[in-house]
Amino acid sequence: MISTDFAPNETWDDAWQSVKMMFKPWLWKQGPSLKQVDWQIHQLFANNHATWFLAGRSALYSLLKTLNLPPGSKILVQGYTCEAVVLPIIVLKLKPVYVDIEKESYSMSITDLNKKLSDDCKVIIIQHTYGLVPKFREQIIKQAIGKKLIIIEDLAHGWDKDRIKNLEFRIQNYFCLLSFGRSKSLSSVFGSAILTNNKPIANALNHYSKKLQYPRKLFIFKCLLYKPISYFIKLTYDIYIGESIHYLTRKLNLLIPEITPQEKLGKYNIVFNKQYPNALAYLLLLQLNKLDHTTTTRQKIVNYYSGVFKKNAQKEKWHNKALIRYPLLVDNRNQVLNKATMEHVYFGQWYNQPIAPKQLDLNKVEYKIGSCPIAEEVCSKIINLPNNISLKTARKITRILNDVASIN
Ligand SMILES: Cc1ncc(COP(=O)(O)O)c(C=O)c1O
Repeated sequence: MISTDFAPNETWDDAWQSVKMMFKPWLWKQGPSLKQVDWQIHQLFANNHATWFLAGRSALYSLLKTLNLPPGSKILVQGYTCEAVVLPIIVLKLKPVYVDIEKESYSMSITDLNKKLSDDCKVIIIQHTYGLVPKFREQIIKQAIGKKLIIIEDLAHGWDKDRIKNLEFRIQNYFCLLSFGRSKSLSSVFGSAILTNNKPIANALNHYSKKLQYPRKLFIFKCLLYKPISYFIKLTYDIYIGESIHYLTRKLNLLIPEITPQEKLGKYNIVFNKQYPNALAYLLLLQLNKLDHTTTTRQKIVNYYSGVFKKNAQKEKWHNKALIRYPLLVDNRNQVLNKATMEHVYFGQWYNQPIAPKQLDLNKVEYKIGSCPIAEEVCSKIINLPNNISLKTARKITRILNDVASIN
């Protein structure tokens, strides 16, 4: 099985790491791994303070709550994102203001930001979509400082060591959001950290997080089960064993979905308002140890795709970028997806509606059709190719695409 969405990070050593932890239930909630992971992130992110949560969405929820904003405060967020970013805003009775994107880095357009920025905007979320540095990042940050906005730089999709040097921790109201969810560039199945140099907020956030409970043992067990099971499913999908196991795990509710049914209905799920447990930190340690290796693999595959898709206008700009997935705009998406599926290749579609996933009723997140036209156009054409794969697999993918795709 070749899939962009399904378990992109899991290899045999991750599966084995998980199995080992399954037999140490006394270390599932608390233990030394969290301190080790915290130390590594501390080192990587120039000694800034990290507060840990079970998921990016609950980290964002906790940060917005700790910031104690007046109800109705406006939060600027791009209209090409995931509901995990927006539901915390809605549930806290804040107001998302959707800013359109540009097509080069799929991030906030400075022109649309200038149109939508008003005095009651309090926070701006600067998303690094697919792990790309936003094209207008510097201008956006300048604007945000000028308007005294609180800046949340959303690095959930990924980051590299070079980028860390340019983060703006010198700004008082500046926060970075990391995610270690299963489809992100480093996976501990669930997990997140907020980084900041703002001591009072860091202390308040830390205090808040320490009052949260740990996930229940069954929840942690299911997270640990995810790595070996998903690895086995991937390995045996094409010979139908994996497909049957996948079906069974869903029927028996053995794995926790990345987005819960409640969230798909547009409701924030408080099940993620939990502390980050030691067992997941243990999984993250291995992923962090492999960071250089996965970065090199992703860079190599991005360069390969860019060499093949000559019509992709961004190909030069993405040279050597360790994107989490490779975005491509195609005019005939359904045809491409059908052809790929026939060859057991499953492409991702981040994002096929301005606030994903597709099942979400956009009214629930206060998104008005037409408010971000560029994002809406991109949503109708986007496919994402997997990056954490071998060159041989990438060749198979480009062959399929060259046969059928009308690249935009
Ligand atoms: C851009 C972005 N930020 C934040 C998040 C939240 O991450 P998590 O899945 O850890 O809640 C997501 C989730 O997919 C995301 O796409």
